[in-house]
Amino acid sequence: MSFTIAEPAPSRLNRSELAVPGSRVELFEKAAKGPVDVIFLDLEDAVAPDAKDQARKNVIQALNEVDWRGKTMSLRINGLDTHWMYRDVIDVLEGAVDKLDLIMIPKAGTAADIYALDMLVTQIETATRAKKRIGFEMIIETALGMANVEAIAGASKRNESLHFGVADYAASTKAKTVNIGGPHPQYGVLTDKDAEGKRDFVWADPWHYAISRMVVAARAHGLRPIDGPFGDFSDPDGFRAQANRAAVLGCEGKWAIHPSQVALANEVFGPSKEELAKAKRVLDAMVEAQAAGKGAVALDGKLIDNASIKQAEVLLGMARRLGIAA
Ligand code: COA
Ligand code: MG
Repeated sequence: MSFTIAEPAPSRLNRSELAVPGSRVELFEKAAKGPVDVIFLDLEDAVAPDAKDQARKNVIQALNEVDWRGKTMSLRINGLDTHWMYRDVIDVLEGAVDKLDLIMIPKAGTAADIYALDMLVTQIETATRAKKRIGFEMIIETALGMANVEAIAGASKRNESLHFGVADYAASTKAKTVNIGGPHPQYGVLTDKDAEGKRDFVWADPWHYAISRMVVAARAHGLRPIDGPFGDFSDPDGFRAQANRAAVLGCEGKWAIHPSQVALANEVFGPSKEELAKAKRVLDAMVEAQAAGKGAVALDGKLIDNASIKQAEVLLGMARRLGIAA
């Protein structure tokens, strides 16, 4: 282990994170009643320019009046390049500072973006005698943000998570795609001809690099990496596939842009019964191995070692937070 230890961000369930436009008040109660881990009330791109002021008022009222049932509450503010952002931060924090857990920063581009917001939030928290400290979640969704992802991840002690905003990232990098978060029929490889001269086209994941890049930066700074939206909410199999591959790369959760995606994300990012049973067997086997003075042993014909203990403990830790394991 390095002598440098990444301090982990405050631990929260973040399997699913539901986007709720601040202009659609009729959705607030429905979001609060569902099984989602984090709700972000959106003032940014799901709200039309003419509706921004009213959406901000809706959000302040809802944070104070809706029973959010203990969910983690986040506010997606407008970008730092707009004239809406300062009011988003000042009005909502002054109006509901202790009701909010997180601020989501869209299109984070540099460490200075985070620093500037930290300064503003710190002043408001001090002036309003806030009882808790607001955390930050940054969306990495521009070429600039991805180029500076390490610096952004380490820019503030408030930082909790990085999110991959696939649609804006595609736009910013001028990727040749218009869908939100799926694969692309032109992104793949053509195999060499086999003995019969037959070739296959094999689809690949156009977002692999970006997500991996973000995961590494997040984990190196003790933050949660979260995969962003999958736009086709009538395709649960497509959502599950995208969520599974993000989970395998190290993401801890995924956005839901529709309530039907919440259960899917909870299922993919929560430990299954089989995974928990396997994790317990790994830990038992390693206890036995250590008693016998061994660092690595075989379980079911496969190597397990110290890294297997850490993997098993990650799963069991989440199960404990969900109240499904001792
Ligand atoms: N939060 C809470 N409830 C929601 C919801 C959300 N984000 N989206 C839809 N619902 C509710 C609907 O009101 C409806 O409730 P009902 O059964 O009581 O009528 C139910 O879930 C089914 O919704 P449906 O009719 O299938 O969808 P819709 O046409 O009303 O809305 C979207 C579809 C995509 C416009 C809507 O889901 C949405 O605005 N999502 C968030 C988009 C967003 O914020 N994007 C920015 C981040 S990428
Ligand atoms: Mg975006």
